[in-house]
Amino acid sequence: MEKHNSEQSPNIRPVETILVIDDSPTNLEVLYTTLSDAGYEVLVEMDGYSGIEQAQNNPPDLILLDIMMPKINGYEACRKLQSNPITKDIPIIFMTALSDTLEKVKGFQMGAVDYITKPFQQEEVIARINVQLKLRRLNLELDHQKQKLEERVVERTAELSEALEELQQTQLQLVQTEKISSLGQMVAGVAHEVNNPIGFISTNLYHANQYVNDLINLLKLYREKFPEPGDEIEEIIESVDLDHISEDLPKLISSMKLGSDRIRGIMQSMRTYSRADGKEKKAVDIHEGIETTLMILQHRLKPQPKRPAIHVVKEYGNLPLIECYPGQLNQVFMNLIANAIDAIDESVPDRDWEGDKGRHLTPDNVMLVPLICICTTADKENVTIQIGDNGKGMDLSVRDQIFQAFYTTKPEGKGTGLGLSISYQIITEKHGGTLECISSPGKGTEFIIQLPFYT
Ligand SMILES: Nc1ncnc2c1ncn2[C@@H]1O[C@H](COP(=O)(O)OP(=O)(O)O)[C@@H](O)[C@H]1O
Ligand SMILES: [Mg+2]
Repeated sequence: MEKHNSEQSPNIRPVETILVIDDSPTNLEVLYTTLSDAGYEVLVEMDGYSGIEQAQNNPPDLILLDIMMPKINGYEACRKLQSNPITKDIPIIFMTALSDTLEKVKGFQMGAVDYITKPFQQEEVIARINVQLKLRRLNLELDHQKQKLEERVVERTAELSEALEELQQTQLQLVQTEKISSLGQMVAGVAHEVNNPIGFISTNLYHANQYVNDLINLLKLYREKFPEPGDEIEEIIESVDLDHISEDLPKLISSMKLGSDRIRGIMQSMRTYSRADGKEKKAVDIHEGIETTLMILQHRLKPQPKRPAIHVVKEYGNLPLIECYPGQLNQVFMNLIANAIDAIDESVPDRDWEGDKGRHLTPDNVMLVPLICICTTADKENVTIQIGDNGKGMDLSVRDQIFQAFYTTKPEGKGTGLGLSISYQIITEKHGGTLECISSPGKGTEFIIQLPFYT
């Protein structure tokens, strides 16, 4: 069976509808015939009210409106049509027998697009209608294009800002991994290099200790068996202070051993701290990371020419091991504690330090002593890590921006403005936690990290 395609081809215009509102049946008939013959679909109504109703239910492309009608005249009908959102854009052509200029002006003022005088000249009517419909089509097309253009602009703008955000994220990530890996590699490399020499120093110290003891014992025995070794030896014994040597040498060696053990400890924690995070999370003790961070920052906590030492008050709770990327979390601790030290240092000119009195903290001298408080707690699902300082604090306009990449209040060369944005990303995106900040200018700042046990 042959299929008939009933769809109109796109370049044939759909039939346009004209609504004629006129109380004279003769006029309606003439217009109906004329317009139908011209290829329009024609709707007719005999008074203003039904005309308005028809226009609302079935909006035509154009309205021919008689002015002189009972009930409601053409002007009034026109006003109603134009105040209704559905019909307000339909072009209206007035029809009247009056050829009075004033009337025409009034019609145009009402918003009519044209005017036809009775009795009708068929060709003129058609010509005027054609012009108006063409105008209307062009206007509709223009609106359509404008809307399409606007949509496209909105779309493009959204695409662009999305792309920009993505780019910024990638950049942050790059900086972050770059930073972690270059710092990590360096620390791991140094730790490795130091490990060997410190290894043989401590092994040899052990033997040296043995040998020294043996030698000292032997010396003692000699002196017992040969109490008079002769002048030459007596003189040397006196000049080198043999008694002091035999007493001091073992002490010296054991303090050297202490020192080398400490270096080994430091190196060990540096290696733990910097070990590259694999793809998998590890269960780790958060406190270890905080402690190592403090150790690395030790030199900055010490007394400075313009301020006493920063006291670190720790209140560690009982925490379970946390599933995390330890290298990244350590970086967060490093960023937050380094910022706290910066904030304290920047508050130095405005402070009246009490120095060593701060060794005995009381509620009264809390602001007189530089302080960093680190407090950890755990509930059923989360651990909370609070890192507070009594440094210069920040006002709202600063606080609102601190998590933005490249936002810094520090001089060029000192601040990168990346520490907090990276930390934020690590805590929220990588660990499903939250990072918040409470601060008041001149008093201090507190950062609150919350981490779920498992993410
Ligand atoms: N503990 C804090 N006290 C006061 N201001 C802080 C503190 N931590 C961060 N800020 C503010 O937030 C800004 C952004 O911090 P950050 O992202 O670490 O970048 P940077 O330290 O390189 O400036 C800092 O420049 C500072 O103004
Ligand atoms: Mg910083």
